[in-house]
Amino acid sequence: MSHKNIDFLIAGNWKLNGDKRLFNEFVGLFDSEIKGVDVVVCPPYVLLNDNKELEFAVGAQNVSEHVGGAYTGEVSAEMLADAGCEYVIIGHSERREYQKEDNALINSKVKRAIDGGLLPILCIGESEDVRANGELFSFLAEQISSALDGLDSNSLANVAVAYEPIWAIGTGNTATTEQVQEVHSFVRGLLVELDSEVGQGMRLLYGGSVKPSNAGELFALNDVNGALVGGASLQAQTFYEICQQASDKR
Ligand code: PGA
Repeated sequence: MSHKNIDFLIAGNWKLNGDKRLFNEFVGLFDSEIKGVDVVVCPPYVLLNDNKELEFAVGAQNVSEHVGGAYTGEVSAEMLADAGCEYVIIGHSERREYQKEDNALINSKVKRAIDGGLLPILCIGESEDVRANGELFSFLAEQISSALDGLDSNSLANVAVAYEPIWAIGTGNTATTEQVQEVHSFVRGLLVELDSEVGQGMRLLYGGSVKPSNAGELFALNDVNGALVGGASLQAQTFYEICQQASDKR
């Protein structure tokens, strides 16, 4: 299956980093559209406001599973959309680990995000142990089927999936192109099983130590339709180079 007819999605996940100054650097550098690439910057919540006129989209790193009410500290999908947010990262391994988010909660958040007008970037990915125990494919299949459970075709079409092997996040150890290709083909198969037509067009991102020096070879792979970038998204110029490489592969 070819990725050639799908626009790339390059998302920067700032995690608990960044400030207004950094955000403004991005605004200055990304001053025109990058051909064939949807660029998304996901800074902390407090920087998400009135970003509707930018040349890149903004996304949140989390969303509440609730619509509203007495949930101190939470932010709803509608509030994010109202602040100009288009995307939201859901199910990042750091939230699965530190905030104990499980597949059922992630499924609620995906549905809530779509209902509230956001495009979810659903993260999946295995630990080193899961891979070593030969459970890679069953683990990923469970993450996908539970996170996307109950979504109809229209909803599914709004979702991008980011494959982020936990052992490759923030470690400098990118997965090999063979490993990425193997998993992305497998995940594409799962998505096509869920919906034969929509599954072909859903964007599959790779994440885990993506940087300008490895982005090109990753973007050349079938079924890699972009990247979720952590560390390398904290410098406007570096992130810009990754986006350019995606554009070159279109
Ligand atoms: P990294 O993070 O690019 O720093 O490895 C990726 C992520 O956690 O989304």
